[in-house]
Amino acid sequence: MSKHIEQFQSSRLEDDSDDAHEASQQQMSPATTSRDAKETTVDDDDEWKEETLDNVPENSNMQDVVASHYNELKEAGRTERLKSRIFYMRNFNNWIKSQLIAEYLHCIKSQQRVGDPMRVLDMCCGKGGDLLKWEKALITHLICTDIAEVSVEQCKRRYEDIIQRAETSKFAHKFTAEFFVCDSTLVRLRGRFKDASMKLNLVSCQFAFHYSFESLTQADCMVRNAAECLKPGGFFIATIPDAYEIMKRLKLSNNGRSFGNEVYKIEFVSHTDPPPLFGAKYQFHLEGVVDCPEFLVHFPTLIKLCRKHGLKLERKTTFSDYYKENIEKGRSLLYRMNGLETVFPNRLSQNEEYSHIKQFVKGNSSRSLGTLSKSEWEAASLYLVCAFRKCENSFDREGKPVFMFDD
Ligand SMILES: C[S@@+](CC[C@H](N)C(=O)[O-])C[C@H]1O[C@@H](n2cnc3c(N)ncnc32)[C@H](O)[C@@H]1O
Repeated sequence: MSKHIEQFQSSRLEDDSDDAHEASQQQMSPATTSRDAKETTVDDDDEWKEETLDNVPENSNMQDVVASHYNELKEAGRTERLKSRIFYMRNFNNWIKSQLIAEYLHCIKSQQRVGDPMRVLDMCCGKGGDLLKWEKALITHLICTDIAEVSVEQCKRRYEDIIQRAETSKFAHKFTAEFFVCDSTLVRLRGRFKDASMKLNLVSCQFAFHYSFESLTQADCMVRNAAECLKPGGFFIATIPDAYEIMKRLKLSNNGRSFGNEVYKIEFVSHTDPPPLFGAKYQFHLEGVVDCPEFLVHFPTLIKLCRKHGLKLERKTTFSDYYKENIEKGRSLLYRMNGLETVFPNRLSQNEEYSHIKQFVKGNSSRSLGTLSKSEWEAASLYLVCAFRKCENSFDREGKPVFMFDD
C-alpha cells in the first residue's frame, strides 16, 4: 500500500497555559483547522459551531470539581454493589473494557517477539478498576495516573495487594508499576515517568477522555500525552460517551435540555443549537457513581487531533455494536463477570423494564435469559469504544515529526 505522508507542525507542549494555547492555535492551522473539523462528516448530522477563543476557558475550575467528585466517591462494599440499580450495567461495561483491552494487546503481541516487554499507560486510572486486566494480560510495566489523589492511592494499594498475592501464588503475575497524580489535560505526562524516554505499547483511557474536551488546548494536550510515548504500531484505546447518540436523544427530549431515566440523567447547562466543538458541557448523573460535568467529544475533531500526533483511527464502534461483535467469543466471560442479569421472562411479563425480552421468548418457555434492564441498557448504549494506531515517523530538517499514514 502506498504510504501517504502527512506533516503537522511540531507542537510545544508546555505547562504554561498561554504558551500551550498559542501552540495549539498554530497546530490547528492549516492541516487541522476548526473549519476543517466542521466540514468533516463521519456518518451523522454534523451541526457544530466552530471553535473560537471564547470557547477556551481561561480560569476553569472544572478539574477541581471533577477531582473532588472522584476523591469523595466512597468505594461501595460487595453488599452495597449487589443492591445497586446499575450492578449489571457496571459489570457489562467492565466486560466491554476487557474485550477492548484483550483485542489490542493481542494485536500488539502478534507483532512482538517472545519476551519483549509490554508497557502500558492507564491514563485516568481511577481506583484501579483495570489492574486485574493488566495482570491477566501479563504486561511487564504499568504507569497509572489520575487527577484524583485518593483514587491514585487506592489504585496503588490494590496493585500492592496483587504483588503480595503473587509472592505466594504461582498463578499470579508480577509486573512493575508507577503511580502519580496529574491532570492529563494540562501536564506533559512523559516528564513525570520514572524514565522519560520509555516507549509504551498501549495507552488506555477508560471512561475519562471526554473530560478533556472542555477546550482545544486540553484535548490537544491529552491526545499528545497518549500519542507521544507510544511505539509505532502501539495503540491508544478509549471508551467515551457517543456525542451523536447524546444529541439524538436530546433532540427527542421533551424540553430540549435534558433526558434520562431512573439510572442516568444528562442535562445541558448551555445552549446546544449547535453545540460548540469544545466546551459543550452537560451535567452527567449516573446512579451512585457519577455526578459531575462532562463534555461532548466531537469525533471528527478527535480524529483530526489524533492524526496531528500520528494516531490513525482503527475503530469507532458503539457499545451496542461492540457487544454484538464480541458476544460469541466473550459470552462465558460476560456471564462470569455478571455482566447480564438472569431473568425468567414468564415472571416479568408485566414489568416495563424488561418488556424488550418478549421478542426473545419462544412460546410459553420458562427458560431463563441474560439481559440488562431497559434503563441500564439505555445508559450503557450511550457509549462507544475507539482505537487509534501510532504510525511510523521520521523527522524533517527542523526536527518536526513527519508521520507516515498507510492510507
Ligand atoms: C469514570 S472514572 C474512570 C476510571 C477508570 N478509568 C475506570 O475505567 O475504572 C473517570 C476518571 O477520570 C479521572 N479524570 C477526570 N479528569 C481528569 C484529568 N483531567 N486528568 C486525569 N484524570 C482525570 C477521574 O478522576 C476519574 O478517576
